[in-house]
Amino acid sequence: MTNEKEKQYPFLRACHRRPTPYTPIWLMRQAGRYMKEYRTLRKKYSFMEMCKDPELAAEVTLQPLKHFRLDAAIIFSDILIPLEPMGVGFEFAKGEGPVFHRPIRISRDVEKLRLFDPKEELSFLMEAIRIVRKELEGKIPLIGFSGAPFTLASYIIEGGYSKNYVLTKALMYQDPSTWSKLMDKLSKVLIRCLNAQIKAGVQAIQVFDSWVGCLSPRDYEEYVLPYSKKVLKGLGQSVPVIHFGTSTSALLELMKRAGGDVIGVDWRVNLDEAWERIGHDVGIQGNLDPVVLMGPIGFIKKEVKRILKQANGRPGHIFNLGHGILPNTPVESVAALVDMVHEYSSMTKQGRR
Ligand code: CP3
Repeated sequence: MTNEKEKQYPFLRACHRRPTPYTPIWLMRQAGRYMKEYRTLRKKYSFMEMCKDPELAAEVTLQPLKHFRLDAAIIFSDILIPLEPMGVGFEFAKGEGPVFHRPIRISRDVEKLRLFDPKEELSFLMEAIRIVRKELEGKIPLIGFSGAPFTLASYIIEGGYSKNYVLTKALMYQDPSTWSKLMDKLSKVLIRCLNAQIKAGVQAIQVFDSWVGCLSPRDYEEYVLPYSKKVLKGLGQSVPVIHFGTSTSALLELMKRAGGDVIGVDWRVNLDEAWERIGHDVGIQGNLDPVVLMGPIGFIKKEVKRILKQANGRPGHIFNLGHGILPNTPVESVAALVDMVHEYSSMTKQGRR
């Protein structure tokens, strides 16, 4: 930690497993389509335009903070942003998510991928970080992020989102040398991108390995762990790092081995069991099913209490959803969630003193 003020932020304290007066909470995709202000801006600009304009990206980052007492902000951007300067063009097709017209599948494609300087080619992101830091000074910390090498590799090999990751796994098995060249290049780019964000001012990092749960533990260990480890090691110790994935219940111990101060888990695993397995010498983030927010307030309360009980007031729990917030989530439920987590956790923590 760099100064006295940072020591006081509950989110950063929890990342370091220090005691906090209440359990800090932020939400993956907390800036987005469930908010009216976001939808209004989106009528004027495309998603990519919003990411590439530092003022707009900063504005969107701050939108949820006006409505909810969140304990951290996350810079508005996307895990796919570094792929364009690498030479892998894509577009967001309506209703389909990202589409890559020229997927990467052979050695020659991998050789053409560019290692670039994010300070230059992602200057819009670094500028957005500087603007948000100024706006947030003294209030809450700012999280920067990237995808993990596997999740990004899966997008550029499949050409978009995939159900079974057949092409990705086929490349791993059929052509391990091309796979390792690709993962190596992605790792190098990600280390540069994350360090540039840290230099621009983010106070924590989350690495999203959203789709890694499609792998067996054996494949994770051989084809993914060395690269994720390299990325997480490549950040030094300057800011805490959250290492997140979904459907990772079979991979938790290996993900811990890859690194991170905090491991992010989804709702498919019980938080107490997950924490027991990864060990209490790292923090844990999670793990409310985002769909719970579509239910009645009484049900949300019950689920929040269950998760807090599983965390048992132990320092090092950061409350979050198990995956990104869904576009048609009621805003009132999000507000209620944030307040509930603060209220109930402060009671438990007082009870423990
Ligand atoms: O969390 C935040 O508020 C910060 C911003 C953020 C976005 N994407 C904004 C976004 C973050 C951290 C991400 C991460 C991201 N992006 C991931 C990892 C997390 C996860 O959900 O697993 C992934 C896989 C992506 C790739 C991506 N970006 C997809 C598949 C899509 C299309 C699907 C969709 O939700 O529409 C996006 C677009 C995207 N990224 C939107 C937002 C707010 C929606 C864009 C819109 O306005 O239409």
